[in-house]
Amino acid sequence: MRIVETPEAVRAGNTSLTGLVPTMGFLHEGHLSLVQAARASCDRIVMSVFVNPLQFDDPGDLERYPRDLERDAALAEEAGVDVLYVPPLEVMYPVEPLTTVATAGVTEQLEGKHRPGHFVGVATVVAKLFASLQPSRAYFGRKDHQQLAMVRRMALDLSFPLAVEGCPIVREPDGLALSSRNVFIGDRPRALSISRGLEAAADAVDQGIRDGDRLVALVEEQLDLDTVDYVALADQDRARVIERLDRPAFLAVAGHLGRVRLIDNLPLDLVGEMFVPDRGVRLSAPSALTRL
Ligand code: PAJ
Repeated sequence: MRIVETPEAVRAGNTSLTGLVPTMGFLHEGHLSLVQAARASCDRIVMSVFVNPLQFDDPGDLERYPRDLERDAALAEEAGVDVLYVPPLEVMYPVEPLTTVATAGVTEQLEGKHRPGHFVGVATVVAKLFASLQPSRAYFGRKDHQQLAMVRRMALDLSFPLAVEGCPIVREPDGLALSSRNVFIGDRPRALSISRGLEAAADAVDQGIRDGDRLVALVEEQLDLDTVDYVALADQDRARVIERLDRPAFLAVAGHLGRVRLIDNLPLDLVGEMFVPDRGVRLSAPSALTRL
């Protein structure tokens, strides 16, 4: 594996199908599952690790964000990454960007409503990665379903010639969705109330429940967080709240436990005529994060 700091070095000698896995580092099995998906259909895998200041709405969150490049490099190499792109701030933003990317219509609700400026930061950095690295495919987790919807639409609107792939949520054996921020969770049993609620809703969908309020209520009944930002059923295409499960959707949750903000969701896919909950992938043993 090569570790490089400039886009020119990433592209050097590239004639093959390149899969890009954008991350902010502090890798876990969720990130590595994206590499695995990329390996199945790309010749060459580039992973970026860049903690993007532009997308942090809370300066404290940016400062606290966990970082460990040595560990990331070891995990990325083991997973089969060919090039690890770790741009310093001045390579990603040589000048303050006067051009930013806003994908309206996908970012007003849910995360967009609670994190002003966040999605402009994400769209801008992802567009810069697409433009500078020129991947053929890019891999994103369903863990951040609104981000996935936004990136898909941004790539389409701006004519980036690549495919955006969405991959299942990877969970701890107890159901907690993996996140780099999980290392800050103090009260794990209460954090598990999110996945418990989503599981209850998944069972209800399997039993034929389609009413948004009922699905939301099933999650809310289980939730044991300090504050809840939202619980909502939204459509996969535009991430807007819907009243009934009548198109591909996701049931999304966000809230705080202590100073950690947790988000999770249950994708609800339309397979033929059936709505099928995507319960994600459960690790058989606790993740590398838990053992840190
Ligand atoms: P980060 O939070 O590091 O996540 C990088 C990618 O990993 C995202 O596509 C995210 O959805 C995916 N991911 C995170 N946890 C996951 C899990 N438990 N299961 C499956 N996939 C998971 O998302 C970002 O970084 C940034 O916003 C970024 C896109 C890199 C732009 O800065």
